[in-house]
Amino acid sequence: MRPLAAGNWKMNGHQASVAELGALKDKLAAASPACDVMICPPATLITTFSDAAAGSVIQIGGQDCHSAVSGAHTGDISAAMLKDAGAGAVIVGHSERRADHGETSELVKAKAQAAIDAGLVAIVCLGETLAEREAGDTLSVVHAQLNGSLPDQAAGATTIIAYEPVWAIGSGLTPTTEQVAEVHQAIRAGLSALTSAEEAHRIRILYGGSVKPSNAAELMAIDNVDGALVGGASLKADDFAGIIAAF
Ligand code: PGA
Repeated sequence: MRPLAAGNWKMNGHQASVAELGALKDKLAAASPACDVMICPPATLITTFSDAAAGSVIQIGGQDCHSAVSGAHTGDISAAMLKDAGAGAVIVGHSERRADHGETSELVKAKAQAAIDAGLVAIVCLGETLAEREAGDTLSVVHAQLNGSLPDQAAGATTIIAYEPVWAIGSGLTPTTEQVAEVHQAIRAGLSALTSAEEAHRIRILYGGSVKPSNAAELMAIDNVDGALVGGASLKADDFAGIIAAF
């Protein structure tokens, strides 16, 4: 399965940041990547970025969507609006949204389903907090999130999973290769049970949390790791290109 390097820009970037996308586009044109490449900018930049990425391998995604198609939801954005703006995918259930906006797995599942119904790929995020890991609850937490958040239409063509330990996000800390391998294997087994053994092997499972050029090759070589979801290190074309080169 072709891996994916996806950049999550979070609440960073202005119209001028399209220069960074241009720099990435130039680097990737010079050496064609061995993985799919996606940037998920803030919603305000999706149209600008998708126009700028045209003719390159770079796909554009959103960072969140509402579960409804339209309606009285001030400040929210529907999956169809993201698609209309130029996105091909959307992240749902990022731990920052689960924590900051109280998003439950039930809501994340509804968002993922809305994304797929609108023709987007849903990137569904899962991951334990440090307290949950220290309590020995990592696998049960991740299983509960997977069971609760996986859309009914989950398949390789519609759904991507991102395992992001909350304590590894933006902290510079990464789990050991054994810890990553254990969770990714458990997610694959969970996907098998929820879809089928064949389909489970078509659904990419990304690792996210402090991925950088210096650790990407090691993390991406782990069994059942099919790519990376990258926050901070995706903001600079040089760093993100360094991660992409590790595939
Ligand atoms: P980080 O963020 O790479 O800055 O740790 C990853 C993420 O939250 O998607």
